[in-house]
Amino acid sequence: MMMDSLQTLRKKYQAIQAMNLNLNMQRGQPSDADFDLSNGMLNILAEGDLVTPSGIALRNYPGGQAGLPEARELFATVLGVHPDEMIVGNNASLKLMSNTFMWALLRGLQHSEAPWVSQSPKMIVTVPGYDRHFSLLDALGFELLTVPMTPDGPDMDAVEKLAASDPAIKGITFVPTYSNPTGDTVSVETVKRLASMKTAAPDFTIFADDAYRVHHLGEDRDDPPNLLRACEAAGNPDRVYLFGSTSKITFAGAGIGFMATSQANVAYLTKLTGFQSIGPNKIEQYRHVKFISSYADGLEGLMRDHAANLRPKFEAVQEVLARELGEDGRFATWSKPKGGYFVSLDTACPVADRVVALAKEAGVALTPAGATYPHKKDPNNSNIRLSPSRPPVDEVAQAMEVVALCVKIATLAYDAPVAE
Ligand SMILES: Cc1ncc(COP(=O)(O)O)c(C=O)c1O
Repeated sequence: MMMDSLQTLRKKYQAIQAMNLNLNMQRGQPSDADFDLSNGMLNILAEGDLVTPSGIALRNYPGGQAGLPEARELFATVLGVHPDEMIVGNNASLKLMSNTFMWALLRGLQHSEAPWVSQSPKMIVTVPGYDRHFSLLDALGFELLTVPMTPDGPDMDAVEKLAASDPAIKGITFVPTYSNPTGDTVSVETVKRLASMKTAAPDFTIFADDAYRVHHLGEDRDDPPNLLRACEAAGNPDRVYLFGSTSKITFAGAGIGFMATSQANVAYLTKLTGFQSIGPNKIEQYRHVKFISSYADGLEGLMRDHAANLRPKFEAVQEVLARELGEDGRFATWSKPKGGYFVSLDTACPVADRVVALAKEAGVALTPAGATYPHKKDPNNSNIRLSPSRPPVDEVAQAMEVVALCVKIATLAYDAPVAE
């Protein structure tokens, strides 16, 4: 590959600055075209739907802490579990997750000897990872212990060592399928080791945020083994909670959050959540059930239509990065995910913050450098999360040209600081 000099690259950069671009690759949000796929949901309910097929009256309180039977059945197919293992809630999986943490802190989970808050709790998290997991756990007072995310999932040598070492280490929080931001998916071996490992805490818990379980980009799909079944087989049936939502299936922030765990955990948790609310919004749940089940080919069809929107954007990211940065790792390496919402780019030199700043000055907003690490501190200053889902494909391609240019400039300037 012919390489431009730093001087030539800077000239190109100035020309781009003069274009006054205003592009955004920061937000992991669906596009309006994605939302349009679910517009039929807005008026799908009618007076004939006041009582569901299972006999629940939608307008009144009764219906169950764990959600509508129809919703438990539908979303059980997303997480690959039995409907009795489901809790279907309101609009956010993060809310379900944080509520579970809060009860664990205040009361403990099923096998706890004491409320977690009394034990100065620690949580294992994977890096690079999802910033909201880090900020939530930090806000709740957990000390965060990082382990690398690998192509097989959490680095299990590190996880096993930590989990066995300290009863204050209460669990691990990570994204098992098409991880945010790396796109990695847990392997059969990782799932087995997570399910069966020895833990110093009797109440060590796996919090697996399966936000992208059905978000495949094409036919070549990751299909990880089910963590609930693996924990059951290993004799630790209550060890795991899975979380998911329709935030990137129907409407972000106006969808349905859900979780799955053993039936004993469902009973334990719904008793506690029963003190907080008489039950979730059943009308919203039924609206989702009716819409998704009546979509051509159901959930599978809806996700295929999302993939048709998303795939060209992910292809544009790959095409520009490969063309501009080459595949030799001189400037950067990046993930090539088969699903999910992100591409994770690692600069070869510690210049992620410089790349993000340069991109911003050229009119391209990127996720802040460091955001994929606890306390926003990337020790290598190299990871950048790219989010191509929201802008139209031509804007994704244009933004990526700018990103690639900024990576080259920051790297060459780092290599030859005198020239700066
Ligand atoms: C891994 C992960 N979990 C959860 C969420 C948010 O989900 P919800 O809207 O259901 O709270 C996101 C959104 O980006 C995510 O990437």
